[in-house]
Amino acid sequence: MTIHDLPQGMIRATGTTGPHEGYMPGFGNDFETEALPGALPQGQNSPQKCNYGLYAEQLSGTAFTAPRGQNERTWCYRIRPSVHHTGRFTPIDMPHWKSAPNILPQVTSLGQYRWDPIPVPEEDLTWITGMRTMTTAGDVNIQVGMASHVYLVTRSMEDEYFFSADSELLIVPQEGRLRFCTELGVIDIEPKEIAIIPRGLVYRVEVLEGPARGFVCENYGQKFDLPGRGPIGANCLANPRDFKSPVAAFEDREVESRVVIKWCGQFHETRIGHSPLDVVAWHGNYCAYKYDLRTYSPVGAILFDHPDPSIFTVLTAPSGQEGTANIDFVLFRERWMVAEHSFRPPWYHKNIMSELMGNIYGVYDAKPQGFQPGGISLHNCMLPHGPDRDAFEGASNAELKPAKLANTMSFMFETRFPQHLTQFAAKDAPMQEEYIEVWNQIEKKFDGTPGIK
Ligand SMILES: [Fe+2]
Repeated sequence: MTIHDLPQGMIRATGTTGPHEGYMPGFGNDFETEALPGALPQGQNSPQKCNYGLYAEQLSGTAFTAPRGQNERTWCYRIRPSVHHTGRFTPIDMPHWKSAPNILPQVTSLGQYRWDPIPVPEEDLTWITGMRTMTTAGDVNIQVGMASHVYLVTRSMEDEYFFSADSELLIVPQEGRLRFCTELGVIDIEPKEIAIIPRGLVYRVEVLEGPARGFVCENYGQKFDLPGRGPIGANCLANPRDFKSPVAAFEDREVESRVVIKWCGQFHETRIGHSPLDVVAWHGNYCAYKYDLRTYSPVGAILFDHPDPSIFTVLTAPSGQEGTANIDFVLFRERWMVAEHSFRPPWYHKNIMSELMGNIYGVYDAKPQGFQPGGISLHNCMLPHGPDRDAFEGASNAELKPAKLANTMSFMFETRFPQHLTQFAAKDAPMQEEYIEVWNQIEKKFDGTPGIK
């Protein structure tokens, strides 16, 4: 991307070139960036008067008193303070974007489910109106749990902005390219990348290449963080330098605009006379970022057996109970399989965690058939799942030479809370009614006699 690609009238900080043009590398860094020289105060946060007549404002993503290491805030230097970016609020209807709790007596969430890719309709759908909630878990009002969505976007937001006070959004594109013009800068993403938009950050979404379809994990709880690596050491999995936050970019546009806000599961709109993307400079560690999934360095079995899939965790959002995540974001990407005398695909299991998977592209090794790119599966709390018959027989009888799993990228949103299907997921989305039958063909081999069957 070059600076010439930016939306008309937007001015962006310079200084980052090469692979980082427009971005600053690092996870959770304390960044600083300015789109006009001298806009960022030095040595203090709140000068008596700011350069350019800007207003200083703090955006706090954690409580003021959160422990150091978790404490996140950003100081913004902006054309108008945010109190000018909202007015009176009017409730609006957003029938397809649901929040937890959303437990419907007529919907059975107990089960193993799979869906074909949801077709993108012909109609005009923006980032807001094109959001289709599949599952919800926990409770948005007490900031625990999550929702999973599919976005179907055909049109850019124009003079329209959005923020969620409820949640941090993890965005996983599957088709098309999107641009997130945020208060803190511009992020472009495409399939094989992800983006994180933190709670409270104002933005609009433009379609760079459409239609766009992908997955969203809406995190009601504590922010995503990198997992501890334990004995793995200081490297591999997701490395901090591969996360990129945007440099400052702002627009000075006096135009009638609409701001939509998600707050406690409800949607409201408010009207203002200008663009709220007016942060000329900022510094801090609470910001949006992107990550290229191709830079994820997987670690796995190099002699025998199969580690738990947590070995593929990219990001984890804690729940307050140590080691038990509100959400884990887990990546199944191409890798070498070398284990000896082992069943190499994921084993059969039941899990206290609820697992929602999406296929970004290619073939997933435990389900060679039926789990299509763009498709979704759900294996809910304590419901058994595992390889289908073909995957089991194939892996049980394969010659165990080193083999590369190529052409594959799937992910999982895994939560400690049971996931409840929405009406859309149960009735409107293309659910594979026969999915549960994938295990029907598994044979009983036991006949009481010893020996390999
Ligand atoms: Fe599982």
